[in-house]
Amino acid sequence: MESKDKNFKRYLVTTALPYANGPVHIGHLAGVYIPADTYVRYLRMKGAEVLFVGGSDEHGVPITIKAEKEGCTPQDIVDHYHGLIKKSFEELGISYNIYSRTTSKMHAATASEFFQKLYDEGKFIEQESEQYFDPERQKFLSDRYIVGTCPKCGAEGAYGDQCEKCGSSLSPDELINPHSQLSGAALVKKMTKHWYLPLDQYEPWLHEWILEGHKEWKTNVYGQVKSWLAAGLQPRAVTRDLDWGVSVPIKGAEGKVLYVWFDAPIGYISNTKELCEKTGDDWERWWKDSDTKMVHFIGKDNIVFHCIIFPCMLKAYGDGYIVPENVPANEFLNLENDKISTSRNWAVWLHEYLEEFPGKQDVLRYVLTANAPETKDNNFTWKDYQDRNNNELLSIFGNFVNRTIVLTHKFYNGVVPALENLTEADQTVVNEMNAFHEQVGSSIETYRFREALSELMNLARLGNRYLTENEPWKVIKTDPERVKTVMALSLQIVAKLAILAEPFLPFSAKKLQAMIGMTENAWDTAKETVLLPAGHVVGQAELLFEKVEDSVVAAQLKKLDDTKKANELNAWTPSPIKEQVSFDDFQKVDIRVGTVLECTKVPKADKLLQFLIEDGMNRRTIVSGIAKYYPNPEELVGKQICFIANFEPRKLKGVVSEGMILSAEDKDGRLVLVTPSQLVAPGCGIG
Ligand code: 2FM
Ligand code: ZN
Repeated sequence: MESKDKNFKRYLVTTALPYANGPVHIGHLAGVYIPADTYVRYLRMKGAEVLFVGGSDEHGVPITIKAEKEGCTPQDIVDHYHGLIKKSFEELGISYNIYSRTTSKMHAATASEFFQKLYDEGKFIEQESEQYFDPERQKFLSDRYIVGTCPKCGAEGAYGDQCEKCGSSLSPDELINPHSQLSGAALVKKMTKHWYLPLDQYEPWLHEWILEGHKEWKTNVYGQVKSWLAAGLQPRAVTRDLDWGVSVPIKGAEGKVLYVWFDAPIGYISNTKELCEKTGDDWERWWKDSDTKMVHFIGKDNIVFHCIIFPCMLKAYGDGYIVPENVPANEFLNLENDKISTSRNWAVWLHEYLEEFPGKQDVLRYVLTANAPETKDNNFTWKDYQDRNNNELLSIFGNFVNRTIVLTHKFYNGVVPALENLTEADQTVVNEMNAFHEQVGSSIETYRFREALSELMNLARLGNRYLTENEPWKVIKTDPERVKTVMALSLQIVAKLAILAEPFLPFSAKKLQAMIGMTENAWDTAKETVLLPAGHVVGQAELLFEKVEDSVVAAQLKKLDDTKKANELNAWTPSPIKEQVSFDDFQKVDIRVGTVLECTKVPKADKLLQFLIEDGMNRRTIVSGIAKYYPNPEELVGKQICFIANFEPRKLKGVVSEGMILSAEDKDGRLVLVTPSQLVAPGCGIG
């Protein structure tokens, strides 16, 4: 298996604990949960002893902010999302041994004890610093609770860590007029004590362990660690002044909790303990035995926590704790060429997908693996989803399986013929098909899941090609003996696919195994040439995949389009009020009501309408750029409009415009004519 130099006895596989303040989306799945599950399913099929640990990350400031916004408690928020996330993972087939949460009793006890030991052993630096304090609420405020004017763009309501208007990262000290988001009070600075993990002290060890010892790690991971170390590490505060989290278990630390990034990774340990307590297993053999291989599956934003901070915590604790053998972090997935964003609702949410696409878990697993952002950011599109389903899963995999089983029934009532009388060409196919077991396996072991999946599909392609070249449906009439060999060999390829597909397409693989009556699914079984012996009876063909119609794609694109439109409207704010003008200045502008006598499009000018206006004294021509919004200009005849009567005449596309018609510009840029609310005499003034 992977580590050439060491044979591990067991595997501890973890996935980043998602924050329980929102549902899981395809970006999370492609980056973390699907690759981890593929890896774990493969290991189990190899007969390895594996513990797959997940859970929800239920602490941190964003959860408290969400609770405040929604008028409920943080516990209500995490109860809701933990339930939703857990259920949707189960339905997608993410095969955890345990999926627990960081508000569990076990977690509080474990995280607390962890801190206590490091504290007792003097592993922390204690330091006082001045922090912003809300005198009304009598509490220290984390950066997100501090708002003020952005020093970069002048926007009001910028947060202490970021201005959402211009995107600048900020520190609370940079904000102009910082005040509390909770009470609105002006903030004061107050001294407070915190505990810091001196990461700088671990630099030599990190250097040796990762930069020297793990050159095989993915370049994106290795590169990030290298640049962090090159920049030099600083002590990191592991406590916060907050009332949501695991309490700091020492005297004088009342009102303080562990920093969410200190307690969350300990969640991996707590959840292991929780499971072992239930099953009577010894949790320490998973965490404190160098024969355990620990692998953390995470997204790229979590690299520093899993490669530097958590390992330093484990190292500081000592007592035999192991550190990860690999951290195969992925990059990010975009959606329809735009960054996935929870706040903009720009995502495909797992729970919605499961509801809208019942029974299609494997399609999502397939598409997200085929498109996984393994080495660079990648893009999910619904068109690609459709193409991969229709042209790959259905046309290549499903079609091959279906043709083989249907023909076996047609020719032999489902009874598998003996694999004999192989030609040289058949033997080549046998050799080729037997190589897949090793190829797919070694790609999985080195975390190259896209490559592994594409190999799997090559096996299905091999089968399809073999059938097409040998045309058993024709040859049956002339050489039935030959067809026995062709069908026997095709059936062996089907059986091999049924095994090798399981880590990627667990639902379809199980269905296929049941269909062909396979009881053995150990990975190494797939080494053999004959998996279905002569005389074995396969069941009737059932469809593994079905076509994704254009209408399905269109519906999903419409949903995204609606989201985009809603976002644009929400993001709209009226333009700032212009500089003040005096009454005298205002008086200079002569605004009047006119009646439209004629209205036509200006030839060769898409945007312009030409109005003939009765202004009470004369008729005047005015050109206005509103053609796009009034496709039937003749309908405006007889309507009253408002116009600036003393506007300097201008020539527009050869027409002299004697005034300016007033229109309102709506949120979406649409221009709407301004009209008096009742009929008035043309030429009357407005003011
Ligand atoms: O980035 C996140 O979503 C974090 N909740 C991941 C935590 S991973 C682990 F340390 F718990
Ligand atoms: Zn700004």
